[in-house]
Amino acid sequence: MKTLLFGKPHIRLEIAGSTNTYARQLIEANRPESGMVISSSFQYSGRGQGIHQWDSESGKNLLCSYIFYPQIPVSHLFILNKMIACAVHQCLEKLTGNIELKIKWPNDILVNNRKIAGMLVETGIKGDEISYCIAGIGINVNQEIFRTFYPEAVSVKMLTGENTELDLVLGVLNKSLSNWYKVLNESHEKVNEYFINQLYLVNLQTNFIIRGNSVTAVITGADNEGRLLMRTANDEILKLKHGEFQYVF
Ligand code: BTN
Repeated sequence: MKTLLFGKPHIRLEIAGSTNTYARQLIEANRPESGMVISSSFQYSGRGQGIHQWDSESGKNLLCSYIFYPQIPVSHLFILNKMIACAVHQCLEKLTGNIELKIKWPNDILVNNRKIAGMLVETGIKGDEISYCIAGIGINVNQEIFRTFYPEAVSVKMLTGENTELDLVLGVLNKSLSNWYKVLNESHEKVNEYFINQLYLVNLQTNFIIRGNSVTAVITGADNEGRLLMRTANDEILKLKHGEFQYVF
């Protein structure tokens, strides 16, 4: 029998502030087993990237956080975000069939410019080492009406027309993360390759707002420091942190 690296033990909560915060409290109290997942039916202060909140109707969507201890130098920290994005992308491919999904750096999975999942990856660092990683994942599963969102939100149900059991989604995600963690430990290149192939707007001339100016550029990838790489019409290479650019939808 294959043992999964992610998904056990599983702490199920009915309500939490944020499963990421709960996970961090567990780590601070007593370093839990690697692979542990905490899920909650509802979060009253779900956190998104930066200052954003993550809102989700009670019991409708997957809200979970995994704890693990990757042995990766701090200089390669962002390969973790890529690995998690690959795993969520592939999990959603399995759940939605032939629908095209894209990874929008650094934390979204999109279907036709609409957001179906978000990730909040938080790490602890001691010296040159990553002491823990919390992979917080929110997947829109059965919710059909969303408050205004930018980009607009979509769910598995809105794509397939059917309800999906949240435990089934979690099971598929456990497998996908376990698989991608193995891939990561064998080869960062394989993670990078899948990631680039699925990256939103890669190799396409696109308009962005960069540091307040309108710029046409081509996304070429993301580096180890988490910056999105773009090439402008003058062949200038831009390395942009989250918040330094905006997509124009
Ligand atoms: C984003 O797209 O900005 C990231 C969203 C991450 C949401 C998930 S839901 C489970 C976990 N707990 C949180 O508070 N946030 C993450």
